[in-house]
Amino acid sequence: MSTIGADQRLTKTDQLREHLSTLVGERLRPGDRLPTERELADEFGVSRLTVRRALDRLESERLVYRVQGAGTFASRRPITKTIEFTSFSEDMRSRGLSPGSRLLDAVETPAGARIGYALAISPADPVFRVRRVRTADDAPMCLETSHVPLALAPGLLDLPLEGSLYSLLETRFRIRLVRADQVIRATVLDPEEAELLQAMPLSPALLVERTAYDQRGRAVEVAKSLYRGDRYSYEIAIERTS
Ligand code: GLP
Repeated sequence: MSTIGADQRLTKTDQLREHLSTLVGERLRPGDRLPTERELADEFGVSRLTVRRALDRLESERLVYRVQGAGTFASRRPITKTIEFTSFSEDMRSRGLSPGSRLLDAVETPAGARIGYALAISPADPVFRVRRVRTADDAPMCLETSHVPLALAPGLLDLPLEGSLYSLLETRFRIRLVRADQVIRATVLDPEEAELLQAMPLSPALLVERTAYDQRGRAVEVAKSLYRGDRYSYEIAIERTS
């Protein structure tokens, strides 16, 4: 049996995810089948649920794909482009703008099914939900809702939340966010969102959904950021590689 569980700082799911990610990256070729859930559970002495969670994470990172009835397979090399990971504050500063925030509310609430799943905690586990209007040179730029597990950042709500959330996590809780899964799509502002962003209802917006992970591979933040379409553009440097 291989060892999982020796590193107390990581959950079994995180450790298995790391192990399988190395296996996929270094030993398997695209299209190779991974061992079955049962084989992995037996090999590492963990439950099938832990195996399934680790595989779910790898699937969401597109390192593996599943074929019903056939198993889990190593993916082709990622099709996503790597772009720089930044906080809102860093992003605005890099554009020559001064970042700010207006705190709308900050509460403790059960994670619920969707957020809990993304954060790999149970739906009843508490998270902090922080809603802020993010400003650039004092003008509304983005409406942001972040969820952070209470267990990872106890006391977060007692700290000043108008500045950078990521700096707080780093300086107060030693959590450095280094990677995220992110989906960006077009949407329009509903009347409440429009009012908070001082825009017209139904005006175009960019929705950025992020699950951010720390240096140990733990999911630390699930967030939605809604940017005014007339003020924000997403810039990516791309390069021909073949
Ligand atoms: C970006 C991300 C959010 C994150 C925020 C943190 O906007 N999309 O998920 O909460 O950065 O920014 P800051 O550290 O400035 O609060």
